[in-house]
Amino acid sequence: MRTTDERVITVRAPGRVNIIGDHTDYTGGLVLPMVVDLHTTITGTTTREPVWVLESDTHGPARVPIDVERPDRLMPEWARYPAGVLAECRALGIPITGFTGTVSTTVPIGAGLSSSAALEIATARAVLATVPDDIRTSVSDTEIARACQRAEHAATGVPCGIMDQLSIASGVSGSATLIDCATLDIVLVPIPDTVRIEHRFITARTLVGSEYADRVDRCREIEALIGPLKHASDIDVDRLDSDLLRRRARHVISENRRVRAFVDAITSGDVELAGRLMTESHRSLADDYETSTQQMDAAVESALREPGVLGARMTGGGFGGCIVILRRN
Ligand code: GLA
Repeated sequence: MRTTDERVITVRAPGRVNIIGDHTDYTGGLVLPMVVDLHTTITGTTTREPVWVLESDTHGPARVPIDVERPDRLMPEWARYPAGVLAECRALGIPITGFTGTVSTTVPIGAGLSSSAALEIATARAVLATVPDDIRTSVSDTEIARACQRAEHAATGVPCGIMDQLSIASGVSGSATLIDCATLDIVLVPIPDTVRIEHRFITARTLVGSEYADRVDRCREIEALIGPLKHASDIDVDRLDSDLLRRRARHVISENRRVRAFVDAITSGDVELAGRLMTESHRSLADDYETSTQQMDAAVESALREPGVLGARMTGGGFGGCIVILRRN
């Protein structure tokens, strides 16, 4: 029987596709993601027990103590994401209530559409749904996104940037979200109805154990030599002795430029230019940043041959996942 202080809660959070601006967020660069019509939903009731009892439709049951100390050690592994969020919310002073419920998702896992960030933001929204209004309204989307980013670091050890969590926390359907990852300023960029953004699943991947962390380390190395990449110029890049570091830096600097140019192009209706910038972004990720694969390159080239396709690129962390396509309506 339900006691009077038990509350029924249903919250959800979408996945995201990144239109342009990959491997720029962890150096404070520009990104342009967009939420997709795929969601992770948490539904259940609050309880008086000091534990979250969750049943995932894809991964089975999990128990997370509300005072969990080491989310990174919890089993099963998927529980580390909600556990990380509970720990980070507690650290922000948000009271955590016991909860029992289900987690279901239409965001494909390992597809580069940020299923983990969707789970994190849904968990944070479930936590916030149980607290008094004055606490809920005192926490901004940016704080929630940062807490969820820390939760992701704790859960996976992957030193991801802020793009996924912030785009999901603040995204609005029908618009892309331009994020300056240094200031965390957000500008909504409506996508004109002459075009549409599509994503296409190519192959599953995980960033855990991938070369993602190596790319983050190389960027730190570059910044130690020439200063912040977000302010660096082509002349700064030429000062780097190593060909590898020059190529990594060239991707980040040119990608920041492409994000700005894409926003200008799509806003002024120059959809052909917008498409070309996406394709250039893919080639930069493939040649200079080396985060693509032959299969992803082939998928992009094949999409570009389809009628109405203006541009295509791999989206997200890379090494597989989805491609994103700009298509004429
Ligand atoms: C992953 C990370 C993001 C971002 C992208 C690449 O999705 O979680 O922070 O770095 O890769 O743009």
